[in-house]
Amino acid sequence: MTPPTLAQLPTQAPQLDAIPIDKNVARKHTLPAKFWTSDEVFEFEKRAIFHKSWMYCTHTSRFEKSGDYYSFNISGINFFIIKSKTDGSVKAFHNVCRHRAYPVVRKDKGSSNVLACHYHRWTYNSDGELKKAPGFEDVDGFDKSENGLFEISTHVTPQGLIYVNFSSDPVPFDTWFEGMTEEMNEFDFSDYEYHMSYELDGKFNWKTLCDSYSECLHCQSAHPGLSAAFKINTYKVVPKTRYARHYAEIVREEKKPEPGKSSWFGKKNDTKVEEKKNIGGEFDGLWIYQFPIAGINCYSPAWYSIRILPISAKRTILQYDIYTKKGLDEASKKEFVDFLQQVEIEDYELCRLTQKNLNEGIYSTGYLHPEQENGLLFYQGLVKDMITEHFKLEQEKGEPIDPAAVGNHSSGEIEELDGICQSLECGKSSIDW
Ligand code: FES
Ligand SMILES: [Fe+2]
Repeated sequence: MTPPTLAQLPTQAPQLDAIPIDKNVARKHTLPAKFWTSDEVFEFEKRAIFHKSWMYCTHTSRFEKSGDYYSFNISGINFFIIKSKTDGSVKAFHNVCRHRAYPVVRKDKGSSNVLACHYHRWTYNSDGELKKAPGFEDVDGFDKSENGLFEISTHVTPQGLIYVNFSSDPVPFDTWFEGMTEEMNEFDFSDYEYHMSYELDGKFNWKTLCDSYSECLHCQSAHPGLSAAFKINTYKVVPKTRYARHYAEIVREEKKPEPGKSSWFGKKNDTKVEEKKNIGGEFDGLWIYQFPIAGINCYSPAWYSIRILPISAKRTILQYDIYTKKGLDEASKKEFVDFLQQVEIEDYELCRLTQKNLNEGIYSTGYLHPEQENGLLFYQGLVKDMITEHFKLEQEKGEPIDPAAVGNHSSGEIEELDGICQSLECGKSSIDW
């Protein structure tokens, strides 16, 4: 039987118009709780948000020589970033062999200028170019130059911060995060070196963590260590262009650390704290939330990044990379890491128990404080805007639009079969609640 043509297939737009977004409500309340629990919303967020956004991955100082690579998974997309042997730049590629889709890189990190796929030994260089395809030498019409790895857009800031954007037509980085690169200059990233990484596996939505990260209204009750180190009543969040800067005055007076409490903000670090104040004017730390899923937090003894990696509607992996000041003694490094991990595990517990209640379906939306929770209003407003905008695009087209889609549909036969799949998935991905 002849398969139907694309034109004959029914198209069906996702039924996202059921999403109860009210412009007025969304500015004062949280978004509806189903945004934190629904698998359908999560799948839609991939296309509407994660496949369009600039997302922080790592720092250039971790790439010492050509061929050094690190692999990542953001919202289900596996990719790796590698230092090119040709020009020393860092490039990102989908970790998908162009032959039959086996992962080209199988470790979290490594170093090689020759990337050989273990399935059938197709071999790529550090620029993603296909150099060898055993057995294909005499295949008529096969062109190695058309079968390199799919490259992902990258941006490296002057501070060495590396970002990716999965979209085939990304918004320019400096438009997306207008003004952020200049603010980052307040901190001397070159004076810090990689120390360690760790991760937490959370049974909660990515936004559950963003909620906690976006305000310090909870700090007095949930973060005793942080509240002792900073004047929490000075804490404020200033939304910018898709990023938000957090400010708080550090406690500067000399005081002896209480037994059993972290002392890294205490007497022995006072000199460094005062030095930072001179550099940055009111600089008391540089903490930046970067919509949607990253944070860069700079302190005197160290800076660290957080990647909030969405795995599913109710699972998120949190990855932390810590960079300490060059020459910092081991005891101070440990003190900072202990302090950081204590704060982060406190947030983790808040998120875990909050999500359990969100999952019950009783709670729908809550009132937000206009000033103390403006960071939530800010980022949830971005979520709402991107969801709404992408929904309209898909409605107009009548089918899902994935900005991250790659591939060469070079024949009519492939396009036709692709059309069948898209129509079938349209039906499955309908949002209906
Ligand atoms: S899948 Fe990689 S060589 Fe075949
Ligand atoms: Fe917190």
